[in-house]
Amino acid sequence: MLKVLFVAAEAAPFAKTGGLGDVIGSLPKELKKQGVDARVILPNYKDIPEKYKQQMVFKTKFSVQVGWRQKYCGILEFVYDGITFYFIDNEHYFKRHGFYGYDDDAERFGFFCRAVLESLNKIDFIPNVIHCHDWHAGMVSVLYDAHYRHLPEYEEIKTLFTIHNLRYQGIFPKEILHDILSLDWKYFQHDGVEFNNAVNFMKGGLAYSDMISTVSRTYAQEIQDPYFGEQLDGFLRKRKNDLVGIVNGIDYDIYDPAKDNKICTHYDVHSTAAKAQNKVALQKQLGLTVNADVPMIAIVSRLVGPKGMELLERIFVDMLKHMSNDNQNAQIVILGTGEARYENFFRYVAWQYPGRVSANILFDDTLARQIYASADMFLMPSLYEPCGIGQLIAMRYGCVPIVRQIGGLQDTVQAYNQETGIGNGFTFPHYNAHEMSDTIMRALLMYHNKEEWNKIVINAMNSDYSWEHSAKDYQEIYKKMIG
Ligand code: GLC
Repeated sequence: MLKVLFVAAEAAPFAKTGGLGDVIGSLPKELKKQGVDARVILPNYKDIPEKYKQQMVFKTKFSVQVGWRQKYCGILEFVYDGITFYFIDNEHYFKRHGFYGYDDDAERFGFFCRAVLESLNKIDFIPNVIHCHDWHAGMVSVLYDAHYRHLPEYEEIKTLFTIHNLRYQGIFPKEILHDILSLDWKYFQHDGVEFNNAVNFMKGGLAYSDMISTVSRTYAQEIQDPYFGEQLDGFLRKRKNDLVGIVNGIDYDIYDPAKDNKICTHYDVHSTAAKAQNKVALQKQLGLTVNADVPMIAIVSRLVGPKGMELLERIFVDMLKHMSNDNQNAQIVILGTGEARYENFFRYVAWQYPGRVSANILFDDTLARQIYASADMFLMPSLYEPCGIGQLIAMRYGCVPIVRQIGGLQDTVQAYNQETGIGNGFTFPHYNAHEMSDTIMRALLMYHNKEEWNKIVINAMNSDYSWEHSAKDYQEIYKKMIG
């Protein structure tokens, strides 16, 4: 049986700030269903909900070398939904609020990466493949090369590194190379972890892993270009033969409008009209004007510039005015947190347009699902998007995506074509506020053509973004690596 260990800083439902957590919380489940022994290892953060902590079982403890020091490391185990999760325990590093963003993150995640490798023979799980995700796990393959490759039990292990977001690389002063990672200076070179005279965790993952993947085919191409490459495009071009794009899926058991007990009325592809009942319930709940015929546009996102909030800020009020003139009194529902600037902006417009705009500056999974089930359109105008999860959930709930044609959005949303009846959403090519608002207006016009609109809703719901295909693609890479 193929054995794979996922290494990541997030995994839903234990620790999640974004799409990374969703992926680590769901892909192993599908792999398991397909016969792979997939397990997950992550830090034992303070913020993991108490109800899970209580069920964790102490497995073993040992010490981990961090530079010249030896640090305590405990391993806790919890089998959740059929998947074995291991938690790396060290109170000094992880008993703090939040997951990352601390001054000593190099040491925290340097320790984490080393602890993962150190744990394998102690938890009695020597995987065929260690599958590392994003910069926090970047040093696993480097440390493997330096300190573990020669061990007989470890010598067959292969490493795969997945990029979820190239923008966050984990860059730290070069001194950590020796003081924290106990690495020889030979690793500090162009083809190694060196990046502008500093140590780059992500680059380490890219340089020393056997294979590299990212979360959509288009993003795999884009990051080889300087515009999206975050200064690593040249390096990625060098490794392009080892770089593949596999689109993310979502957990179809959890996200299912026919079963989701968090939404008001269940429906499926044959009963899409029931979305209107969800809409009315949500309108009441959020204090919007109650009217099932008014188109509702949802924005469920981190409220930060590159998610397209800068475009919205520029054109939002004009758009609302324009919609009123055209008698397209669409309602807009926002859910998310992020930069104070955008949080305040949406609060302000919601105050200015009561009944039409609802700004929910928080994150709440139940409300998110109610929004997906109620809204007619889902807006995601990202500057760049490695994959994007929101549009996938939206489609599953028959909420038609309006997206920029970029990265994973391009790979998952196809513009609706009235001639052929093919397509599951609306798209626009440039990162431009007017192009975005024109596209929204086109969607609103189409909305009033009930027959056409329903076709798009059904096409969206019929688009299959479960993990089934993508998990098979991952299996292929695993198998190719282990030969
Ligand atoms: C990151 C990316 C997002 C992707 C997610 C999971 O959050 O920004 O596009 O869907 O990772 O891979």
